[in-house]
Amino acid sequence: MGKAIVIYNSRSGNTHKVAAKIAEGLGAELVSYKNIPDLKNFDLIVFGSWLIFGTISPAGKKFMKKLDSEALKGKNTALFITAGKPDMEMKKKGEKILQKDVAFNCMEEILEAKGAKIIKERLTIVGAYKFIRRGPGSLYKGHPTEEEYKQSKKFGESLKKYLK
Ligand SMILES: Cc1cc2nc3c(=O)[nH]c(=O)nc-3n(C[C@H](O)[C@H](O)[C@H](O)COP(=O)(O)O)c2cc1C
Repeated sequence: MGKAIVIYNSRSGNTHKVAAKIAEGLGAELVSYKNIPDLKNFDLIVFGSWLIFGTISPAGKKFMKKLDSEALKGKNTALFITAGKPDMEMKKKGEKILQKDVAFNCMEEILEAKGAKIIKERLTIVGAYKFIRRGPGSLYKGHPTEEEYKQSKKFGESLKKYLK
């Protein structure tokens, strides 16, 4: 069986914990975007980021843009996000669009330009806001929930079919 890796960009821990559950379900290596090994050694890559101002974080965008195209070409790639308000509607060029779709489209665009083969199934998990100076925020407190962690593990299990 092939090898899988889950790469996450997390500020306050939600995306990291969700990534860990996906990795557990998939039987994958788990790394932060700051410690990415040579991706040529993997057959399936899972990317996750948190949202700020209606799209993926600037650090999330930056590390994806820097990835080696040679290693990503033709490779099965799955995406997930954590966000406070993933289903909030936004307006883009006069059209209504959900925040989560803005974020996924952004990830897809960057990774597809590097030749990655994007898997259609995606995972969206609600994550509580935690502000730096005010301590843990109360918005969406309790998220991700136990149910959401179970969903994350299941998402990992469901991706096994993409490993040869
Ligand atoms: C400064 C800041 C801005 C945020 N902006 C958004 C946003 O625009 N839309 C959204 O859905 N969530 C937003 N969030 C919520 C985070 O995306 C959410 O809490 C996420 O799970 C954080 O992930 P992390 O714990 O891995 O850093 C924001 C959080 C912070 C701290």
